[in-house]
Amino acid sequence: MRLDKFLSSAGTGSRTEIKKLIKGGVVTVNSSVCLRAETKIDPENDTVCLFGEVIKYQKFIYLMMNKPKGYVSATFDRRLPTVLDLVPEEYLHFEPFPAGRLDIDTEGLLLLTNDGQLAHNLLSPKKHIPKTYFAKVNGCVTETDILEFRHGVTIDGGIKTKPAILEIISAGEISEISLTITEGKFHQVKRMFEAVGKKVVYLKRTKMNALRLDEALSPGEVRELTAEELELLRKGF
Ligand code: URA
Repeated sequence: MRLDKFLSSAGTGSRTEIKKLIKGGVVTVNSSVCLRAETKIDPENDTVCLFGEVIKYQKFIYLMMNKPKGYVSATFDRRLPTVLDLVPEEYLHFEPFPAGRLDIDTEGLLLLTNDGQLAHNLLSPKKHIPKTYFAKVNGCVTETDILEFRHGVTIDGGIKTKPAILEIISAGEISEISLTITEGKFHQVKRMFEAVGKKVVYLKRTKMNALRLDEALSPGEVRELTAEELELLRKGF
């Protein structure tokens, strides 16, 4: 990896600032001053210092976001704000992207990472990663709905969903439920309730695999996952 790329991916400054620092003789590689930004280094084995301080190499970033309403799960949109707009500046050089999509009006747990392999594992239909949602539903959710969801419902377009676990938190004119699905079809939760004649009026993801949303994160807040949380996210693969 080029020395300037290494320093910028460690968050030490912009490429231009870094080039100036290197020219200024304040960067060493294995204790020797290095004046060329294009010098190739081995990030795992070489010791790079800036002003005498060792720069640690971090390849991947794993961010938990409590996604608020009104943001699209994309890195760019011509019209609407994206979840990337909520990521603090200090993490942007890692080039994180959302691992999976939540609708613009859905809140809750969203993982942003630059680890393509992990994102692939989480999203691959073959892995059947469970995702749990809390929802408020217009209409009285019943035991019959639990059974229907357990067997799979036919959503519009004639697709049958995989078995899902529906739990009723409270049933009434507006019901509160928890639903765990192992697929990620477009608008899946909303379409499953439509299939049983009900409408989702509020939706929030609370869990992905064994990782739970940190309820201390307010909507729009972002923080790095702990090592334990990363383990929970990777459970089973
Ligand atoms: N199901 C939906 O309908 N919307 C989401 O955002 C996620 C799951």
